Amino acid sequence: MLSTLPVTAEPSSRVDPTLAADRQHVWHPFTQMQEYFAQPALAIASGQGGWLTDTAGKTYLDGNASVWTNVHGHNDPDLNAALRTQLGQVAHSTMLGLTHPVGAELAAELSALAPAGLSRTFFSDNGSNAVEIALKLSFQYWQLTGRPEKIGVIGMAGGYHGDTFGAMAVGDSGFFHDRFRPWCFPAHHFAAPSCREWGGKIRAANTTASLASLQALLAEHAGTTACLIIEPSVQGAAGMRLQPPGFIREVAALCRAHKVHLILDEVFVAFGRLGSMLVCTEEGVTPDFLCLAKGLTAGYLPLAATLAREEIFSAFLGSYESGRAFYHGHTFTGNPLAAAVALANIRKLRALISAGTLRSRSACFGRLIDDTFFSHPHVRDIRQRGFTAALDLAPSREGTATFPVADRVGLQICLRAREHGLLLRPLGDTLLLVPPLCLSEVELGELVHRTLQAINDILPN
Ligand SMILES: Cc1ncc(COP(=O)(O)O)c(C=O)c1O
Repeated sequence: MLSTLPVTAEPSSRVDPTLAADRQHVWHPFTQMQEYFAQPALAIASGQGGWLTDTAGKTYLDGNASVWTNVHGHNDPDLNAALRTQLGQVAHSTMLGLTHPVGAELAAELSALAPAGLSRTFFSDNGSNAVEIALKLSFQYWQLTGRPEKIGVIGMAGGYHGDTFGAMAVGDSGFFHDRFRPWCFPAHHFAAPSCREWGGKIRAANTTASLASLQALLAEHAGTTACLIIEPSVQGAAGMRLQPPGFIREVAALCRAHKVHLILDEVFVAFGRLGSMLVCTEEGVTPDFLCLAKGLTAGYLPLAATLAREEIFSAFLGSYESGRAFYHGHTFTGNPLAAAVALANIRKLRALISAGTLRSRSACFGRLIDDTFFSHPHVRDIRQRGFTAALDLAPSREGTATFPVADRVGLQICLRAREHGLLLRPLGDTLLLVPPLCLSEVELGELVHRTLQAINDILPN
């Protein structure tokens, strides 16, 4: 019987009703629930700036930006005001055959931010859907233009594009998705480049083998391939695997030469995460499709966008009976509350980027990571770019020995970090640090210092 599950070690007279309801009724994502029940539970009641406060009143630095979304902090007065204003107008109205002012304005704004030509925005409500939409648009485009044999997809090794079936099919995230392979369509994957960078310096990079493997795939399969999908610059869920600058330009050139659509999945890397609004504009690459979510609403509300080139959009035009329309849509597509917040987010972010604030903050983050972890005896490798960092933990810096999986060292460190007032999520024994972009240099120092304390508590030297 579920009702026998323990809540926490608290006396029953002080049982927190949130935790009680959670224990009895919630099934958490990406969580082994048996392990979760054995941990001290934590319920967040409020947030301010880069900090979150639990139902017992303890505050924590939000070290993973509430799953890589938060930009200007929690409870931001400007975003709150935009939300309240829109709430006074309308909370939701469909985009199926209708429009609304904030949705239309946001689509225009996104086209203005994106490389020239990406003039059409198809809204949805999460990153996986943004990817599904790009894939389906690419598949349908080739059907509509007389190339129905172009049905294949190429992804990059280690890619993560979400958890829906199309996104799983084109991704390559090992044990997250392996058990669902029988239901996924086949996709090819080319080798990822290698790139070591932290503290603002590239330490080593090699793209030769990666580009050669892509070239080989395209030489054999381009005629039957619809699109290539890639997370440009940083593969977040693979543990912040990096690409050197210029790599994505070479991938784009190969796609263009072989008439294969390029889908850039910037769900994680856009909206200031790497210091710029969009990676594609920074790199001078115009994809055929651009997927955005996460930071689009600064971590406030679910909203995603798939941008497409005008020429692709045109191929879908025709009479109703031609059947060329794109039959895809979600109930809350382009929700006005989320669109209003996204517009306020972009306004604020543009100012931060042009003032150089993000550049100096991310440089500070890089210096702190380098100074604190470079010679740490249990940090075998570091990858850091912009406001993303991964620390690979191991029994020693040298060699290849790893901790036994069952020891859950990464998780133990993250649980200990809570005692130091810091929220982090591990990826196995890799710690991922993904701060909200609003953290001051002092707060970034706290993030790094508290991470170090937690590591040293669990792994004394
Ligand atoms: C690059 C990338 N694409 C897609 C997704 C999926 O987004 P969502 O969780 O909103 O479905 C993620 C999520 O982490 C991501 O990092």
